[in-house]
Amino acid sequence: MLILGIETSCDETAASVSYNGTTILSSVVSTQIEEHKKYGGVVPEIASRRHSENILGVVREALEKAEKTIDDMDAVAVTYAPGLIGALLVGVNFAKGLSMALGKPLIPVHHITGHIAANYIAHPELKPPYLCLVASGGHSHIIEVLSYTSFRVIGKTRDDAAGECFDKCARALGFPYPGGVHIDKASAYGNPDTYKLPVPRVAGSIYDFSFSGLKTAVINTVHNASQKGQEIRTNDMAASVQKTISDMLVSKTMLAARELGYKKIVLAGGVSANSGVRSTLTMACEKNGYELFMPPLSLCGDNAAMIACQGYYNYQAGITADEGLNATATLSVEKL
Ligand code: KG4
Ligand code: ZN
Repeated sequence: MLILGIETSCDETAASVSYNGTTILSSVVSTQIEEHKKYGGVVPEIASRRHSENILGVVREALEKAEKTIDDMDAVAVTYAPGLIGALLVGVNFAKGLSMALGKPLIPVHHITGHIAANYIAHPELKPPYLCLVASGGHSHIIEVLSYTSFRVIGKTRDDAAGECFDKCARALGFPYPGGVHIDKASAYGNPDTYKLPVPRVAGSIYDFSFSGLKTAVINTVHNASQKGQEIRTNDMAASVQKTISDMLVSKTMLAARELGYKKIVLAGGVSANSGVRSTLTMACEKNGYELFMPPLSLCGDNAAMIACQGYYNYQAGITADEGLNATATLSVEKL
């Protein structure tokens, strides 16, 4: 089955052609980062306008690279939630028009399930059930993946997402948006034990995260130093931030795996590109004897190959949409 996948939930316009979910024939990502960088973050209206301008060209390029025509497609899969509403609507309406014109099924895909599915592309042997840590710019979840299309959230962030925390700390240190990758690079030259950063206790669920205190501590430390004319050791602070976030994410995931009896752990989302998160999780899984699956760096960030892949599993489970499909800015992964 050939699926055209479309992703426009944030600042990447992406399209991909996949065969039976896991064989990627093409994956095109047009990023708007350079434009949003000027504003220090994504400007929703600009994102929507760029998606409108780019989507046809990106889809054409994906078909050309796959050496297929639009008529060869058996279905169209599209991210419909969660994300920036104006951005999502561009992809949803484009996919709806295509599916109606072609008379082919329309498959709605939840963005987080797409990130998780990136792992099926890289690791065809991976099968549910397993425990998944999803960390991106908008989400930080510990999820029980019960089947390809059934998910239970057991932990989530109470405030900022892990990626958001990386980006805000990076901004305080003077790095451009999106700063997560700059923290990662600077960390390589820093001592993670230089700055003691707070690890909050989260009342209620033992699996929930909170990152806003960490962000505030970094911002305050940087501002206090600058007021006193002192220098912040950027590499050391970056390494301290990366270590603190990695430890928070990994310790709760290990706790959940132990309590719930999972021996198979999966990492997903944009933050899964972080070298500290990857190495901390790798060491923890080795220590506990857990099997670990991580996406390759090429599939960590937003792309449409992961959407086409999850679209395939949704279709197999009978999850399709009609012309009434709407975009939704917030939606639990449990609701799909
Ligand atoms: O999944 P994604 O591409 O978009 C959302 O669905 O949110 O994630 C983007 C997030 C950004 O916050 C970005 O800074 C972060 O992932 N990120 C990283 C790294 N690469 C991307 N954070 C830390 N280290 C990285 N190497
Ligand atoms: Zn994403």
